[in-house]
Amino acid sequence: MNSTSGPDAQNVLTDKFGRTVTSLRMSITNRCNYDCIYCHHEGDTTSSGEMSVETISNIVHAASTMGVNKVKFSGGEPLMRKDFEDILSSLPKLRDVSVTTNGSFLKGRAQDLKDAGLDRVNISLDSLDPNVYRFITNSTHNMLNGVLDGIHSAVDAGLTPVKLNMVLLKGVNDNEIDDMLDFTRTYDGQVILQLIELMDFNDVSEYQIDANSVEDDLTLRADEIRVRTMHRRKKFIIDSAEVELVRPVDNSEFCANCNRLRVTADGKLKPCLLVNDNLVDVNGMSLEEIPQMLKHAVSIRVPYCRN
Ligand code: 5AD
Repeated sequence: MNSTSGPDAQNVLTDKFGRTVTSLRMSITNRCNYDCIYCHHEGDTTSSGEMSVETISNIVHAASTMGVNKVKFSGGEPLMRKDFEDILSSLPKLRDVSVTTNGSFLKGRAQDLKDAGLDRVNISLDSLDPNVYRFITNSTHNMLNGVLDGIHSAVDAGLTPVKLNMVLLKGVNDNEIDDMLDFTRTYDGQVILQLIELMDFNDVSEYQIDANSVEDDLTLRADEIRVRTMHRRKKFIIDSAEVELVRPVDNSEFCANCNRLRVTADGKLKPCLLVNDNLVDVNGMSLEEIPQMLKHAVSIRVPYCRN
């Protein structure tokens, strides 16, 4: 059997709770040119060093023989890695390869990323107001224009649908939802807005919005509503703009449907964003050694929120 024809039953990565891992979320660096006030650092503040292209490639190749057909790269800021194109070129064929980026390095690089095998991008865009943007990201100069150019380049290069991640922060950017919807509409269906409920990692509870009232408001205004099984996400169509509400906070359904396994920048399999005492180190391991480590990491996966 080759890696694209799917796993045999023995090789499927199903945990004790019946959840099958089909997706990897790989941090490839902890370095970032921003210092966002809410950042959860992918639950990883301890790691040192970064995986080589070969280790990343080995992990994804091994996982792809075990039913994983999707990989999302994250950071830090993944585009801080100059060899990100090499990483992309080293991957097996997958259904979906994406990256979550702050967009500040996308302009001028989007087409190369597409050519190297990237399918699409998620770009963090928490505000369209330069001052608010700088406040949230703690970036030193005004980076917003460069990011807007980056969004443009990503759409031009066909890294679509481009998803814009907007973490809702009470009193900071929660008055900008309509502006973001207008911005989304200018891209004629090639851009999707994701409104994300804040997870309180850095003592930022003062910014916590009432997600129920946001949801009620979107529900009232929507021409159409769809519910995705993955994480029970709701998708609203509002005057032709597509917007998703992501509610990870205290959501047992979010965890019950979780099909991802995380990998830290220094090569440890991480069963859950919110748990740090069960990491499985695979850094530097060969293609032959990794499958049993993947099985082990999946066997110790536990839903963080349960009913
Ligand atoms: N709460 C919610 N989402 C977060 N992200 C990072 N930190 C948090 C947090 N505390 C997500 C956002 C951001 C991406 C890089 O990670 O979606 O755009």
